[in-house]
Amino acid sequence: MSSPIKHYLQFKDFTREEYDYVFARAKWIKEKFKRYEPYHPLFDRTLVMIFEKASTRTRLSFEAGMHQLGGSAIYLNTRDSQLGRGEPVEDAGQVISRMSDLVMIRTFEQDIVERFAANSRVPIINGLTNEYHPCQILADILTFIEHRGSIQGKTVAWIGDSNNMCNTWLQAAEVLDFNVHVSTPPGYEVEPERAGLFGTHHFEQFADPMEACKGADLVTTDVWTSMGFEAENEARMKAFADWCVDSDMMSVAHKDAVFMHCLPAHRGEEVTAEVIDGPQSVVWDEAENRLHAQKALMEYLVLGRIES
Ligand code: CP
Ligand code: NVA
Repeated sequence: MSSPIKHYLQFKDFTREEYDYVFARAKWIKEKFKRYEPYHPLFDRTLVMIFEKASTRTRLSFEAGMHQLGGSAIYLNTRDSQLGRGEPVEDAGQVISRMSDLVMIRTFEQDIVERFAANSRVPIINGLTNEYHPCQILADILTFIEHRGSIQGKTVAWIGDSNNMCNTWLQAAEVLDFNVHVSTPPGYEVEPERAGLFGTHHFEQFADPMEACKGADLVTTDVWTSMGFEAENEARMKAFADWCVDSDMMSVAHKDAVFMHCLPAHRGEEVTAEVIDGPQSVVWDEAENRLHAQKALMEYLVLGRIES
């Protein structure tokens, strides 16, 4: 009997040991790429990328990454495909997975990627849903490791919305054993069930964002209004006004704290220009690492472990 297909739908789909492997592969693949050495382990393989929401980084990093690994990538969106005309997700999963080796999906409810995966012959990657954004946190933790070493035992301060990024940080804290201090406006608190937590208490909620930042090794935030929630924008602009990461917040964090943001950012809303463009910000390394982390992820999902 063949082994079950490995998907990457949420951060907790991989164990800590698998992350150690993927981060080590990402480092190796990145170094090779920086030396301009071709590496084509996915020669002749095809990645299908399905976008139901906008993207710059995710599309670019998956498409460029697949090309650099020797394969090709096909872009589909809701507007130009039958997906936007009500073809059942289950049928799409059956058909698309018969013509490809790997599928990445960016969509709305997590349920959509789960149903697609249940009908797929090939690995499925979550490229962002309303609930989770595991590929981004993969890149963020790779970036933290590069700048500061292991994240185990460290403290991440999450300031703002308890959205897909926040939920994924919380799952990552449980898998990789670090802590997350979350501060959201009232009414926007973390919903542990929606975040998919095991309940190991790796996070603490703070009413005051300054308190959440105290002693943090990494301070991070995201847009106040995520894609799909645009109707709430006006109410959110009012509710989140005091949840802007500024230099006062950074000053109470650990002196070596780094600042991250998955991007796109809105300077003057969730973060000041002084912070995101300042010396503690690692946002450009973070964005670049989407490419390297996802190349390691795709290699692992398609080929399994490569013994070096
Ligand atoms: N951070 C991120 O996922 O960016 P895109 O929306 O541009 O893909
Ligand atoms: N939370 C944001 C992340 C964008 C990369 C959103 O879902 O729109």
